[in-house]
Formats: sequence, C-alpha cells, structure tokens
Amino acid sequence: MNFLNKLPIITLSPMDGITDEAFRLLQTEIAKPELIFTEFVSAEGISHGGVKLYDTLLFSSKERPIIGQLFGKNPESFYKSAIILCELGFDGIDINMGCPAKTVTQNGSGAALIGKPDLAVEIIKATKKGINDWFTGKTGVSDISLNQKTLDVINRNKKYSSIVETYCNTSLLKKNKPTVSVKTRLGITESIIDSWALILLAQDLDFLTIHGRTLKQGYAGTADWAEIAKVVKLAKNTKTKIFGNGDIESKSQALEFCQKYGVNGVLIGRSACGNPWCFTDHIATPKERFSAMLLHAQFFTEVFPHRRFDSLRKNFLFYASGLTNAKQLRTKLVRLNSIKDLLALEDDFLS
Ligand SMILES: Cc1cc2nc3c(=O)[nH]c(=O)nc-3n(C[C@H](O)[C@H](O)[C@H](O)COP(=O)(O)O)c2cc1C
Repeated sequence: MNFLNKLPIITLSPMDGITDEAFRLLQTEIAKPELIFTEFVSAEGISHGGVKLYDTLLFSSKERPIIGQLFGKNPESFYKSAIILCELGFDGIDINMGCPAKTVTQNGSGAALIGKPDLAVEIIKATKKGINDWFTGKTGVSDISLNQKTLDVINRNKKYSSIVETYCNTSLLKKNKPTVSVKTRLGITESIIDSWALILLAQDLDFLTIHGRTLKQGYAGTADWAEIAKVVKLAKNTKTKIFGNGDIESKSQALEFCQKYGVNGVLIGRSACGNPWCFTDHIATPKERFSAMLLHAQFFTEVFPHRRFDSLRKNFLFYASGLTNAKQLRTKLVRLNSIKDLLALEDDFLS
C-alpha cells in the first residue's frame, strides 16, 4: 500500500475500451501517472472461464502501482476474482459501483449497486476475504474450480507482468497486500452521497473514489465537487483516503482541486484521451501528438497482434482533436488499416 503514503496522488481513471495495455504503455512512456487503473472487467466473466477477458488485465511491471478494476453483482465471483487478481500481482483491487452503461446497470452491477447497499457491502466483504485467503495461503487459484484454460491464461498474464511468486511461496511475505477500494457516483437520480458514503466508509476501504455525477447524469453536465468535498469531511476520522473525479483537464488543475476540496487524489479520464501530457501540463505540438499516436499504434500491434487495427481509430481521432485541420484529418483517420497507412498521414497531420 506504499502508493498511499505519498499524497496527493494523480491517477489514470479506468476507461472501458480505451485504457487497454497499449494505451497504458503509451501513457507510462510519456507521462507516468502516480497510479493507474485497468479498464473494468467482469468478475463473473473472469471467474467463470472468460479467457478473452484476461487481455484487459495484462499489465507491464513498469506501470506499477496498478489497480485492477472489477464489476459485477455476485459476491462469490468477487471472492474468486480477488484471488485471481492477487495471483496476477495487482497492487490493488477496485470495485466499480459507478458505471452508468445500461448493459451493466440493467444487470444490477456498476452504479445500480448504489441502490442495493446490502449487496454492495457483501461484495466488498467477499473481495476482502478473497485477498485475505490468498494472502495467508489458505486459498489459491487452483482451489476455486477454474478450468485449465483459465489457469493457463493466468500464467500467460503473470509471465507478461513478470510475476514469479505464487500464493504458497514465502517470497510473498515481502509483498504488500493489495488495497481494496470502490469507485462510485453521488447517487442514482440525485445525490445521496451523505448516506451512501457513510455505508462505504464503514467498510474500512483503503480509498474511495467519488465521480461527482449521478447515474442519471451519465457524463452530462459538470461534476459537483462540492458534493465530493462532503465525503472528505465524512472520512475525517477514518483510514479511508478520498479521491475526487470529474472534468479534470491538467496536472495543475488536479493539484488545485486537491487543495480546494481536500481530496487525497484525483482521477483523470477523458482528458488523457489523445493527450497523455495532461499529467504534466505540457501542451504537445502536432509533431509530438503524431509521434505519440504512432507509438500507441506500435504498442497495440505488439500487445494485441490478433486484434483488428481499425479498433484503434477512435484513439486516432482523439490525437487529432483540436488541430486546425482536424475535420479533414478525421475523414482520413477513420480509414486507417495499418501502421504503414498511419505513417503516410504524417505530412497531413503536421500541416
Ligand atoms: C469511454 C469511457 C469508459 C469508461 N469506463 C470506465 C470503467 O471501465 N470503469 C470506471 O470506473 N469508470 C469508467 N469510466 C468513467 C471514468 O473513469 C471517469 O469516472 C469519468 O469519465 C469522469 O472522469 P473524467 O471527467 O476525468 O473523464 C469510463 C468513461 C468513459 C468516457
């Protein structure tokens, strides 16, 4: 838990379909955040044979400290997933109680858990139990009925992340226990943060992230940092650190908000898309943007050689956003099929 000793902390927020391993490698290369989250992954999926989902959990040791984020609604799946994430060497496990996507909330997961506090608490307790059982050597990945394909993909990920220890290896005694945290919103239709935060704070979490919007708001309007500041007050006599999230665009704004609202850290999401420099306040030139985009594409093809190149196009659009010729570039960027195509666009990008 060493990363919580140096506060305030500026963190890369999890973004499903965006902050994959290629994005995080690029971010680490250009301006390493003090803490990084993976995209969320289904606890039910990874504990019930969803081997493809393990791509989401690939991380390189240079990204540390790194938090693996889970979503779901079944405490037993969180118990098993906590054991899996410990085995994979994550520095922390975060539970998503904030996703507004219908595909997630209809199923009772993500921000829907705000309306089911008893289940939310059960999920936190199951996650903690999984970490404790793995850490004490009571239960490992071979004890939770995973099929051989899942055990194989866990080993693939461990190899990628240079994880050598297993739960029964004494070298683990030197390792820090992963943190347990929750990322949530102010409420469902309106802010109920006073009562909701008290329930979460009673769970002895290491940190709690509040995105200053309700589920109903989605990403519309502006984040309400005054509501986030209420949680800082409520947490005063607890060990739980409070991170704020919503609409932060730069390092200086992040530090200003830490000061102004008393949070121990902030998460930056959308502003990092196509702009990894937001963690440093540097304003990138078109040339720097092009080089970053190229490196992003190179990381992508190295890490995910089996994936379609066109899934990168949404990232390319972010890099072009704000350039004077962005409109013309967009029509070309959405047609790119290879790194060769991308290189051919360099002059357009810099003109
Ligand atoms: C495309 C997209 C995907 C997201 N995926 C996740 C996710 O997997 N887990 C999560 O907790 N939040 C997710 N979020 C929410 C962000 O982490 C963050 O809370 C939100 O964007 C507000 O912060 P920002 O204003 O800095 O972007 C996602 C947001 C976007 C735009």
